[in-house]
Amino acid sequence: MADESQKWILMVTARTPTNIAVIKYWGKRDETLILPINDSISVTLDPDHLCTTTTVAVSPSFEKDRMWLNGKEISLSGSRYQNCLKEIRSRASDVDDEKKGIHIRRGDWERLHLHIASYNNFPTAAGLASSAAGFACLVFSLAKLMQVKDELGVLSSIARQGSGSACRSLYGGFVKWVMGNDVAGSDSVAVQLANETHWDDLVIIIAVVSSRQKETSSTTGMRESVETSTLLHHRSKEVVPKRILQMEEAIRNREFASFAKLTCADSNQFHATCLDTSPPIFYMNDTSHRIISYMERWNRFEGTPQVAYTFDAGPNAVLIARNRKAAILLLQRLLFYFPPLPNNELESYVLGDKSILQEAGLQSLKDVEALPPPPEMENIPSKKIIGDVSYFICTKPGRGPVLLTDEDQALIHPKTGLPK
Ligand code: DP6
Repeated sequence: MADESQKWILMVTARTPTNIAVIKYWGKRDETLILPINDSISVTLDPDHLCTTTTVAVSPSFEKDRMWLNGKEISLSGSRYQNCLKEIRSRASDVDDEKKGIHIRRGDWERLHLHIASYNNFPTAAGLASSAAGFACLVFSLAKLMQVKDELGVLSSIARQGSGSACRSLYGGFVKWVMGNDVAGSDSVAVQLANETHWDDLVIIIAVVSSRQKETSSTTGMRESVETSTLLHHRSKEVVPKRILQMEEAIRNREFASFAKLTCADSNQFHATCLDTSPPIFYMNDTSHRIISYMERWNRFEGTPQVAYTFDAGPNAVLIARNRKAAILLLQRLLFYFPPLPNNELESYVLGDKSILQEAGLQSLKDVEALPPPPEMENIPSKKIIGDVSYFICTKPGRGPVLLTDEDQALIHPKTGLPK
């Protein structure tokens, strides 16, 4: 048995949001350091609805680094995990916890082992950027545990080495990942463009689209695009630099029309580069395409955009409504086109901020059945297809990472050092 002085466990718990890119990252110039071929911009999503919580624990009694994701042990041997752990350990400080009588010297971190437990409050397999929130949370919580003194920008460049899009989850609100020039990647960092209160009219509805096919991972997909798509190279050199400036201006001035136009165009161009890849990659499916048509038709009917759409490496739609009123009209449209299965409760079909349901006058399936066709569909037969959307999540732009100080929220047992 370990002697008494070896029994202490020190731990930290943090919560980190996921993010959705409105100007996409697609393509690396360095696969190991994860350096992109263009800048990207994202909106951080409210962690109340989509986040990762991670507890990191250290103890002299731990025999090796171990990690559990959603309760299941996973391997830390991959180079992405190893690079993040190495970078963070090399920046660790002396840590003293007088109350517990714990004194860790800087150099000790190299030989002390970690237990890490992570939990996503949304289905990991739903294709909702779980790796972004996951690596951001891992790096943020380890930095707190080891009292790393570097600023968030440095932490973003470490999270980037876990998964590119993770660097943008270190901040709330609107975030730009600057591609940088340095071959070592020191200037490829995330910066906050505006915090989550800057444009708080926006409402986000995610349609989790049912999919039967196994998708190509982002990592593989973008490698193949870099190797074979001429459109991707035109995009990164000629199109994205201009769009980044326009998007920054749209965000700064809260110009929804410009924001929506750029967001939709960039999503569509990203998917066009996937189609331009050999062999072609299809991330969107028929349901995704139908959602685009409906949104385009509605925006045209209104004369000015009410909603922006964007799709990542999968069929799910992320819809950004200009304000609460537009969000209510959007949710009514979505439920008209994609009603829940007859035996499904509305409660489990619309997740996240359910207050929009109330405001839209939708309390039950009967209310959904009674929804009239949207005016832009007059004289156009619209087919209701049940089962194409698994569920919706209503959310909004949200804050960056936070520490959870309440021990009850820790995912690791303070005595055993194992997941609760
Ligand atoms: C389509 O960050 O998942 O979501 O860096 O290889 O881990 P790796 O890829 P990842 O790619 C995200 C691609 C995207 C666009 C975006 O988030 O910018």
